[in-house]
Amino acid sequence: MGGVAGGRLAAAVTAAGGLGMIGMGSTATATSLAAELAALGAVPRFGIGLVDWVVRDRPELLEAALAARPTLLSVSFGADLSWVQRAHRAGALAATQVYDAQDARHAQDAGIDVLVARGAEGGGHGETRLATLPLLDAVLDTVTMPVLAAGGICSPRSLAAVLAAGAAGAWLGTCLSACPEALTGESARSALLAADGTDTITTRVFDVGQQLNWPARFPSRVLRNEFTGRWTGHEQTLAGDPEAAAELAAGIVSGDQRIAPVDAGQGVGLLTASRPVREVLDELCTGAQRLLQRWADPPEDHTARR
Ligand SMILES: Cc1cc2nc3c(=O)[nH]c(=O)nc-3n(C[C@H](O)[C@H](O)[C@H](O)COP(=O)(O)O)c2cc1C
Repeated sequence: MGGVAGGRLAAAVTAAGGLGMIGMGSTATATSLAAELAALGAVPRFGIGLVDWVVRDRPELLEAALAARPTLLSVSFGADLSWVQRAHRAGALAATQVYDAQDARHAQDAGIDVLVARGAEGGGHGETRLATLPLLDAVLDTVTMPVLAAGGICSPRSLAAVLAAGAAGAWLGTCLSACPEALTGESARSALLAADGTDTITTRVFDVGQQLNWPARFPSRVLRNEFTGRWTGHEQTLAGDPEAAAELAAGIVSGDQRIAPVDAGQGVGLLTASRPVREVLDELCTGAQRLLQRWADPPEDHTARR
């Protein structure tokens, strides 16, 4: 999660038993990666997530990521997976997010070690053609490698569902974005905690308004606000409107939630407090384990709701 998953969040996820990822988004540089690596401290394992078109613009970012010797390197949003061999030579496992069976086959052929099946419910950028469960079905039917499910997983129920369906684990975004360890600013955190699951929208207006080179194929799921209401469906006009671009830039700097983007998936309604990563992950994993265990228990236990 670019701008949210810094070294501190990644370290906390790893300390809680997961694999913490430093997310380097569309504004990432080798310098900003170095700062987050410093914040990571000494951890037994960590990953780095990069955006394909960003590393094409700034190849030194990929160099810096490989030099940091992550356990897992993830590069998403591109079809050229030649970076996988470089990751392997640097001792890293390779992951990428996929959106259909064809993507999954292509990634398997390129030597990817772990696939992330990222459904339309997810926060941030991604394709929106398939929801998480149908996508997971399609990907699991196609590849033999471990598949992580992503998109809308914010509760013990949704974690249990994807594990029961055959995912090797979950790739979590939104449910960690309001944690105190995240880089999320205070006004964005408040907006996340106040939002309902129906308050998100997929849109390109923030990319167009900031002149970011995101392919149109990957809109981002964000919290709906005044800016998305005004410009969604009018992206071409927005692209030629310097006043709107200036308003957006100012809104981002001041943290004005009527204007600024806040990436969030449809699970956002389940965030009600800013809780430490360990608490969030313990609750998710213990709750999912309890739910899955029900199916091994005597039938009367199946009526228990939790
Ligand atoms: C705040 C935020 C920022 C994100 N930034 C990135 C990013 O920079 N690169 C990326 O590959 N995915 C990014 N994502 C998408 C996540 O990798 C993941 O697919 C998504 O969060 C999973 O869905 P969920 O948010 O419902 O858990 C971001 C997601 C969020 C919520």
